[in-house]
Amino acid sequence: MAVNERLICAGNVLEEGGLGVRFEVEWAGEKTPAFVVRYDGAPVAYLNRCGHVPVELDFNAGEFFEMSGLYFVCATHGALYDPESGACRGGPCNGRGLHKLKVLERDGQIFLIEGNE
Ligand code: FES
Repeated sequence: MAVNERLICAGNVLEEGGLGVRFEVEWAGEKTPAFVVRYDGAPVAYLNRCGHVPVELDFNAGEFFEMSGLYFVCATHGALYDPESGACRGGPCNGRGLHKLKVLERDGQIFLIEGNE
């Protein structure tokens, strides 16, 4: 599959540990919600799909981090995820992490790298 870059948003929209930007990807033949946030200085992106039940993590659009800013939290039952790897860190995700997507930041823009599966 050819690799393609798709613009998601401007880089300055993403503040460290702040609100994320929601977007959609084609996943398993369906439009699937995804999100990108800034963590440890870099953009990180995942399918917006909890490992417990496949629902979106953010009840309030773009709110993925819990209070400390150390983890993503699922608003439905409180599963916690490592923002860097997407690994389950607690709660009902029970070892099932988030699916990471490839993104890059270049010239002040955030791009999704598609076709890398
Ligand atoms: S649906 Fe996310 S923790 Fe239950």
